[in-house]
Amino acid sequence: MTLPPLPADESGDFGIYIHWPFCAAKCPYCDFNSHVVRHVDEEDWCRAYLQALERAAGETSDREVVSVFFGGGTPSLMSPATVSAILEKIAKSWRLAADLEVTLEANPSSVEAQKFAGYRAGGVNRISIGVQALNDADLRWLGRLHDAAEARAAIDTAATIFQRYSFDLIYARQHQTPAAWKAELRQALALAGGHLSLYQLTIEPGTAFGRRAKAGRLEGLPDEETAAEMYLLTQELCDAAGLPAYEISNHAEPGQESRHNMLYWRLGDYLGIGPGAHGRMHSAGTRFATEEIRQPEEWLAQLKRLGHGEACRQPIAPKDSALEYLLMGLRTRQGISLSRLRALDADLLDQERLSELARQGLFAIEGDRMRATRRGWLLLDSLLVQVLA
Ligand SMILES: C[S@@+](CC[C@H](N)C(=O)[O-])C[C@H]1O[C@@H](n2cnc3c(N)ncnc32)[C@H](O)[C@@H]1O
Ligand code: SF4
Repeated sequence: MTLPPLPADESGDFGIYIHWPFCAAKCPYCDFNSHVVRHVDEEDWCRAYLQALERAAGETSDREVVSVFFGGGTPSLMSPATVSAILEKIAKSWRLAADLEVTLEANPSSVEAQKFAGYRAGGVNRISIGVQALNDADLRWLGRLHDAAEARAAIDTAATIFQRYSFDLIYARQHQTPAAWKAELRQALALAGGHLSLYQLTIEPGTAFGRRAKAGRLEGLPDEETAAEMYLLTQELCDAAGLPAYEISNHAEPGQESRHNMLYWRLGDYLGIGPGAHGRMHSAGTRFATEEIRQPEEWLAQLKRLGHGEACRQPIAPKDSALEYLLMGLRTRQGISLSRLRALDADLLDQERLSELARQGLFAIEGDRMRATRRGWLLLDSLLVQVLA
């Protein structure tokens, strides 16, 4: 189970993901581990995160933290005091990289935007806002609690407080045309800082949209061809604006890529703390996967009982790491190192099929690197199935 050393151009970085599982309302498209509850005892939750970090530090305090990410759920429902306490605990327990990235996902309600300065004072240096759409009708359809004016105001506030800010939009929405998306994306690019996340709407089973789609009551979704057209025009407009994709759905000015995202995509190490959070960690030559208890109340109860919220911890076989590396790495513009992949699993790829897809211009192979092309990105899921031996 011993892993080969990481090639010099790949990440041996270490980060910390903190999951805040609560939201003010559940969006009909969302299958993240997010819950709407009447009351959250924030002090109790804060103590729990600090305790979980204490235990994790006992196992990894020799590492240097390059990134902390508060995700959710809606982490901007946390008070700045809680976020600061968590960051203080991290600073006391690990060495911090000089250019540490600390990201917090925020929803753009005015109440939440008022907290941005407090987060900045506590050590957050990058904010990622869930805007989703820039018109009120679509925001209502997406079940969002904010309107477009609030979203613009939150972006303005972020721009005055943070050097690095990003926002998310969802496209290929009900009744959306490529022309409408183009106009909206132009507005978004005018508001953007160095980073944008642009997700094509996916209808997830188990969500309200999933149930409506199954019952044939989700009308007006763009067909595959129209969605592909929207994807390609997204690439064109973002390229022209100096924000090329560095991953299928993530765009950045060079140097403004999310360091935390890159950790996931390059098989870096990260602690996952909070309900349902996943982690990956090398220890004594073995790579482990961890998963926390999903249900918030159960997570909190176990934390109080045992001092951690872990549901399971398992060694990952190198061939499973290889698959993860392929699936994650091909989402990025850089792609993967073939020698690193081979060292994990020499037989993963069907070489003949791969050469054929490269001839068709869907993959590019340059020296040791393999990446999906733009057209390849569009078809990535089906290409991956074809290329696996
Ligand atoms: C963890 S979520 C949410 C962060 C924050 N709570 C919010 O909603 O603004 C991160 C992003 O995933 C995207 N997302 C979630 N579900 C999606 C879906 N079904 N299809 C496309 N994008 C989705 C949204 O853009 C969202 O901002
Ligand atoms: S999209 Fe964001 S706000 Fe909506 S339910 Fe999911 S995590 Fe919560």
